[in-house]
Amino acid sequence: MRDRMPRYFFLLSMVILGLVAAALFQAARPPWKKYQREFYALEAQHEPNAAAKESVLKTPLAINQILLPGLQRVDRCTTCHLGVDDPSMKGAREPFAYHAGIQQHPPSKFGCTVCHGGQGLATDKEPAHGHVAHWEEPLLPREYARASCGKCHTKGDVSEAPELAQGRRLFDTHGCRGCHKLNGVGGSIGPDLSREGATRRDPEWLVRHFLKPQSVSKGSAMPDFGFTRNQARDLTFYMLSLTGEEMGNYYTSKDVLPSPAYGRQLFAEKNCLTCHAVGGVGGQGGPDLQGTAQRHSSEWLDEHFVSPTLVFPGSSMPAYDLEPNARAALIRYLAAATPADARSILAAHPKSLSAEEMAIEAGRLSFEHYGCVGCHGENAKGGVPNPNSQGGQVPSLIHVADDYTKPEILSLIRRGKMPPLKDASKPAPPLYMPAWKGTLNEEDLKNVVEYIWSLKPKEESSW
Ligand code: HEC
Ligand code: HEC
Ligand code: HEC
Ligand code: HEC
Ligand code: HEC
Ligand code: HEC
Repeated sequence: MRDRMPRYFFLLSMVILGLVAAALFQAARPPWKKYQREFYALEAQHEPNAAAKESVLKTPLAINQILLPGLQRVDRCTTCHLGVDDPSMKGAREPFAYHAGIQQHPPSKFGCTVCHGGQGLATDKEPAHGHVAHWEEPLLPREYARASCGKCHTKGDVSEAPELAQGRRLFDTHGCRGCHKLNGVGGSIGPDLSREGATRRDPEWLVRHFLKPQSVSKGSAMPDFGFTRNQARDLTFYMLSLTGEEMGNYYTSKDVLPSPAYGRQLFAEKNCLTCHAVGGVGGQGGPDLQGTAQRHSSEWLDEHFVSPTLVFPGSSMPAYDLEPNARAALIRYLAAATPADARSILAAHPKSLSAEEMAIEAGRLSFEHYGCVGCHGENAKGGVPNPNSQGGQVPSLIHVADDYTKPEILSLIRRGKMPPLKDASKPAPPLYMPAWKGTLNEEDLKNVVEYIWSLKPKEESSW
């Protein structure tokens, strides 16, 4: 037994030595080196010239990293994804393929993780793709990568990702703010959503939650809005774009993309047609704008928008305070404007509203924007369940004008109210009327009351 010990010891040492050697071998041959060799072999195939082929094959292997101080990231994805900006790699297998569609966002300025997620610094596949414990940002599934466009293009439409604008519209019209804060505005019954896309990165969870909140969050007080699958997807895109990340000025400089559609919206809002015609349709106070994009360069048009009198001394055109993207959008629209479109803008021109109608409309918008809709239902018709409150639902507001005076309602909205319990032995109802003092200013409050008053069915009022 005794003389066997050295032999065991020897065997054990050999095992340890073997492990150390294997580890050293591994460290000298990390998988990324294998990918790089494969890539250069692939590239060399396209080289007809033998010397060039040789030099491609001899490219030194190295970790590629992109420093992105403005995005507070360092991305090493191009250590393996070597063909992203090489068009001859179109259709090559991953990770070597050419990346179509990022010409506006070159890897040298944008890296990869700002759109895809993943762990920028890692050089092994699984950790880089973020599929490891304690990394909160795994790669987004491919079909949801476009949600990231909304991190920077935060307003208006992104034509490649229409889901974002749809989702934002649903958010604004369904009263989500009544229970959720977003960028400081909103209620506190549900969690703050300002960083939802950073903390909840599982799109399937979000979709299922929107389709039926109670199916993934037991007993959730969030109403089932009866969303369709597409609507749930749109909202999920929007949620994933809300990451609350700090980004440098350059990256947020295009919060609105200067699309012709945005230009058209401005053209209509600013009433350009009161002075200008397009192909004869519109006003006569300034030159006809058909062909103006051919008569002038974009630079000229841009400067003219900044200061008409500087470009055209004595011009009677007003100087609009338009930010650069708005000016670019108008210029793109002008290049495409047609008389038929001018006619449709004039036809859609809103009729003028009375002061009272304006107050009601402003109140309706606040009712949507601040999320009253989320609890009181669309058009304040009620129907949102509130277990153990009297009536079992958040009340409809259609008949408020019968039960209260305007000052009473003003003060109720300012101060909020806990609903009385139906059964004192059961838990309190999840939804209560929040205090809105401080969130809505006096003007908003008055308008909201006018809106609520306008809901009272007409045949019953004042007769
Ligand atoms: C060690 C090499 C390696 C690194 C580093 C790497 N990848 Fe990959 N990646 C691959 C390989 C290989 C594939 C092919 C699919 C597979 O094997 O999973 C791939 C596939 C992908 C795909 C498409 C498939 C999917 O799951 O959606 C995306 C997107 C992607 N990588 C993004 C990234 C990003 C972003 C980074 C940097 C954070 C990164 N990769 C870093 C090797 C790498
Ligand atoms: C501006 C955002 C953006 C940036 C930056 C970006 N990508 Fe992509 N990438 C996308 C989108 C969107 C798709 C999905 C396209 C589609 O729907 O087919 C995609 C697709 C891919 C795919 C193919 C996925 C598949 O399954 O076919 C890979 C791989 C990939 N990207 C890797 C990268 C790497 C590596 C970088 C950095 C060099 C990068 N991307 C930078 C937005 C981006
Ligand atoms: C990290 C911020 C960021 C993300 C994410 C991002 N963009 Fe951009 N985008 C920019 C910036 C900044 C520019 C302006 C680039 C320049 O001109 O130097 C731009 C330019 C564009 C343009 C051209 C604008 C023009 O002047 O016509 C389009 C279109 C666009 N982005 C669409 C997208 C789409 C689609 C996605 C998602 C796949 C996306 N962007 C993701 C910041 C971003
Ligand atoms: C009547 C109040 C109420 C309204 C209105 C409401 N929610 Fe919620 N929401 C909640 C509550 C409470 C939770 C927490 C319980 C849960 O996960 O369902 C929640 C959870 C969520 C979550 C999951 C947060 C997380 O990561 O855990 C998201 C996302 C969300 N809501 C989005 C929305 C959107 C978008 C709307 C508008 C369409 C909306 N909510 C309307 C009350 C509400
Ligand atoms: C988080 C859910 C929630 C939100 C958001 C909410 N309310 Fe309420 N509201 C309630 C509940 C619950 C009651 C019933 C209180 C009670 O039973 O006395 C109520 C009561 C009211 C009443 C009195 C109705 C009556 O018949 O007694 C008015 C008016 C009202 N809310 C207006 C508003 C306005 C305006 C907003 C938006 C600025 C708003 N509410 C947002 C939950 C909400
Ligand atoms: C109060 C009347 C008035 C309004 C409103 C007005 N403009 Fe003008 N605009 C003029 C006049 C006058 C000129 C000719 C003098 C000049 O070039 O500044 C002009 C010139 C122009 C030109 C140069 C045309 C050319 O081919 O030389 C463009 C482009 C233009 N306006 C666009 C617009 C747009 C877009 C709007 C709305 C945002 C607008 N204008 C609103 C009066 C107006």
